Amino acid sequence: MTEPPSSLEPVVSRRSVSGTQNRAASRSWWDADADGYQEAHGPFLGDVDLVWCPEGLREADARLLGDVKGSRVLELGCGAAAGSRWLDGQGADVTALDLSSGMLRQARKAASRSGVSVPLVQADALAMPFPAETFDTVHTAFGAVPFITDTEALMREVFRVLRAGGAWVFATYHPMRWVFLDEPSEAGLMAVNSYFDRRPYVEQDTAGVPTYIEQHRTFGDHVRSLTAAGFILRDVLEPEWPPGHEEVWGQWSPMRGRLFPGTAIFIARRPAAS
Ligand SMILES: C[S@@+](CC[C@H](N)C(=O)[O-])C[C@H]1O[C@@H](n2cnc3c(N)ncnc32)[C@H](O)[C@@H]1O
Repeated sequence: MTEPPSSLEPVVSRRSVSGTQNRAASRSWWDADADGYQEAHGPFLGDVDLVWCPEGLREADARLLGDVKGSRVLELGCGAAAGSRWLDGQGADVTALDLSSGMLRQARKAASRSGVSVPLVQADALAMPFPAETFDTVHTAFGAVPFITDTEALMREVFRVLRAGGAWVFATYHPMRWVFLDEPSEAGLMAVNSYFDRRPYVEQDTAGVPTYIEQHRTFGDHVRSLTAAGFILRDVLEPEWPPGHEEVWGQWSPMRGRLFPGTAIFIARRPAAS
């Protein structure tokens, strides 16, 4: 539910996809969209800043990751990796991971603009090239989670790379957004989709090959996929639209933001070793 890279209207369906189709579609979509995404959202995100969501919540204010000085911190679906650059400045030992070479090209450009380089890894968040218990914290702002159909497998993979007691903080679409049209104006206030329909949203080409896939999980699904992987859920934030914030981002707008949430941020922890 984002702008297609070409002017052609996408053919949309709601159907299941295989893991291979999911990975191929996400990779080619974000490769093609990387420059456009960065041009549209880079000024709002900054080159050295951790912005959690279109509501503009910043880690500098929210401190959802706590004191990261000396911690090993992994960012999933990092895009241009502004969040990792900001955490590097806080003294964290960071790694930024993304599936898309186009997005990582944007990360290298932002590194040369800002003068802050961080280690970049190209990999699927479902199969990370790290040994078990490598990181103290894993986080993402809308990276990987909404685009991976097998959420349960993703939660297990994050659990694997976290040390006992480590934190997993992810911002994703608020589940109730699924019900509404992908539209920031009044037209986006109409409920058109069932909240209970978990079939992925799939854009496909004329041959039926998926080109963009987005996943819906209800609130309960998110809680169950976290706890089934072994996580303890500590909190869920639903950031409110701040007064005076006028930036429209896709379906996010001040008008809708005043009425209902657009983002959910899940704060979970791998249990400490007993
Ligand atoms: C909406 S962008 C968010 C980028 C960045 N976190 C930000 O706040 O701008 C989603 C990112 O997730 C990445 N992504 C999608 N599927 C992924 C996967 N399976 N593994 C790793 N990254 C993935 C995309 O390549 C893209 O960079």
